[in-house]
Amino acid sequence: MNSKKIIPLALPFDDVPDDNQQSKQMVSKQRLKELREIITGHQRLYYEEDSPVIPDSEYDELLRELKSLEEKHPELADTDSPSLRVGGAPNAKFSKVTHASPMLSLENALNKGELADFFSRVRSSLQKIHSALDSADIPILDGDLAYMAEMKIDGLAVSLYYRNGEFVRGATRGDGKVGEDVTENIKTIGTIPQALKGNYPMSLEIRGEVLMFKNIFEQINRRREEAEEPLLANPRNAAAGALRQLESSVAAERQLSFFAYYVVEAELMGLKTQSDVLKWLSGNGFPVQSAVALCGNVQEADSFIEHWRSARHDLPYVTDGVVFKLNDTELWNRLGSTSHAPRWAIAFKYPPEEKETRVISIEISVGRTGALTPIANLSPVRLGGSTIQRASLHNEDEVRRKDVREGDLVRIRKAGEVIPEVIEVVKEARNGSEEVYEMPKTCPACGAPVVRLPDEAAVRCPNRASCPAQIMEAIIHFVSRNGMDIKGLGEKLIEMLLEHGLIVNLSDIYNLDKDSLESLPRMGEKSAQNVISAIEESRSKPLESLLAALGIRYVGSRAAEILARNFPDMSKIAEAGIEELSNIDGIGEVMASSISAFFTDESNRSLIEALAAKGVRMDSGSFAPQGSIRGENEAISKLAGLTFVFTGELSFPRSEGESMVKSLGGKTTSSVSGKTSYVVAGESAGSKLEKARQLGVKIIGESEFLELVKANG
Ligand code: IVH
Repeated sequence: MNSKKIIPLALPFDDVPDDNQQSKQMVSKQRLKELREIITGHQRLYYEEDSPVIPDSEYDELLRELKSLEEKHPELADTDSPSLRVGGAPNAKFSKVTHASPMLSLENALNKGELADFFSRVRSSLQKIHSALDSADIPILDGDLAYMAEMKIDGLAVSLYYRNGEFVRGATRGDGKVGEDVTENIKTIGTIPQALKGNYPMSLEIRGEVLMFKNIFEQINRRREEAEEPLLANPRNAAAGALRQLESSVAAERQLSFFAYYVVEAELMGLKTQSDVLKWLSGNGFPVQSAVALCGNVQEADSFIEHWRSARHDLPYVTDGVVFKLNDTELWNRLGSTSHAPRWAIAFKYPPEEKETRVISIEISVGRTGALTPIANLSPVRLGGSTIQRASLHNEDEVRRKDVREGDLVRIRKAGEVIPEVIEVVKEARNGSEEVYEMPKTCPACGAPVVRLPDEAAVRCPNRASCPAQIMEAIIHFVSRNGMDIKGLGEKLIEMLLEHGLIVNLSDIYNLDKDSLESLPRMGEKSAQNVISAIEESRSKPLESLLAALGIRYVGSRAAEILARNFPDMSKIAEAGIEELSNIDGIGEVMASSISAFFTDESNRSLIEALAAKGVRMDSGSFAPQGSIRGENEAISKLAGLTFVFTGELSFPRSEGESMVKSLGGKTTSSVSGKTSYVVAGESAGSKLEKARQLGVKIIGESEFLELVKANG
């Protein structure tokens, strides 16, 4: 493919005609090769080096893409494909924990009848035991039995072990008998006590649910959406992914929560009822749900269910039912358990809520890379605690598969209780006037004719340079946390700046001054100053931030970093051809042609020139020699131009680290600034690490540092 052909858009394969089978296959072949390379790399990082650089969900997404391509093209099969490799489940890396007593599941009641059956089953079993024992020591058999009702949290069960009051180990349920050791990740959950106060047994095991609050989930997905990364399906999956991160700093970012609901061998601690258990837990610093109630009879159980049927949507976390537990813990042992669930508890499940509503219209939203996403504007309807007015229809194929048309009556639900989605069209409700929905042939934002590339689900607007919708999204991406991280320059403000003509294109943000910002409605002096300072600071961000901020297709933070490591500055990346780029470890052909196409585009070149003219840092301070790409056997140049700061406890004296850097031509300083290239952080690093995080300075660990030194001399 001739990437140097001048084409008006920064997309690879623009020159591949849609109807050309051979070219299509070439594209698939390239993507297959690239996916195999990328996945093999991630498998190595995950299984061999314990340091994955992407979340499991993203890895799964890549693997799914590979598998689907391999299915579509059996002729391109390869017995060495990573899709065939049994790398072990990702959790194979965690050490195993055998639970002292099995972590059971719960029996489900799907309706009130099954719940009533459970209540009578418990009663009659206890009566039988009672008469068999012929003893009078079973209480409350005459009246109703009391049940503790608790909301059923949609998270993951974990077990927390305390020895002498100190948290020593956290484990997932696994198969109930053996779980995974996730101690380090559990430690990132701030509400879980690390040490107990007061009276506690020498050895204690607490069980409960790890979960992600809805607002955190939405925040994470908003960020992923901005970066066009695959969205997390629901808070439960998000929590599961976070808990299984091998790097606890990644888990920490996900801000997990926890609710305790069970104490193993509670009766030995004198806790005679589940009410006592919850009281003890909360009195000893464990977070417990407040959505609980003791139900003295079946009617009270029923009102609890009815009350929370809708009220549960106002809870900050996702629940999918009510767990009823016989309150008297002494009776638990008498009833015992089946192989998978206790006989003294049951989970009443709310049916997933679904509603019917009308599609008023189908609207197109244009994303940063020009992808056109069809969105259904719905007649407002209450569902799962909020009013739903829009649902994404994702792409052309989805609209076609579901055959959603304007005017249709559709059934909708919330995926994972959070994201509204159209399940299906109520076809019987059609009156014949509904027309098959066709994706527009031109971009609704700029009028450019749209294109759909082979092997892609998205229809795209190719007018990257001047489509107003793409400019807006490009700026949002540019300033986002994964890009230049310009705090205070949010979506609303960007929209206003564009509306007021204060900026026309991306590089204009570097022309903004305090006065013009202050002229905007509702903009105070202080916030204006903060935004200006953040813009100012961003000029010296490392090259990898700028590369990631540019939104080159397929180039995320990781690839940006690889590029910055391998080239001394932006111009050298721009000059590199596909071959040179794809020779770099971690950069496949698809990515290479995307990068090359990006820099071939005249408008991208002028954008970069404009940014450079405004003082945005373009050099990487990289250790790569001018114009050279790291070859397998090629010695890489020294650390010239790089500034290191050491912090925290390292296994070698700091002075030794400093002399290593100096001997390779690098510099060291004691304080962190925007000019710092690397902060080498050891155990218990403090304020310098914090500052590095704030400034977006690259942080590496001791072993990474030593590797860098090794690689450089
Ligand atoms: S009690 C032996 N209480 O539901 C009793 N479980 O479907 C163990 N769950 O594995 C469970 N909220 O992960 C209990 N308030 C609650 C719960 C709860 C959610 C989960 C738990 C369990 C699963 C069974």
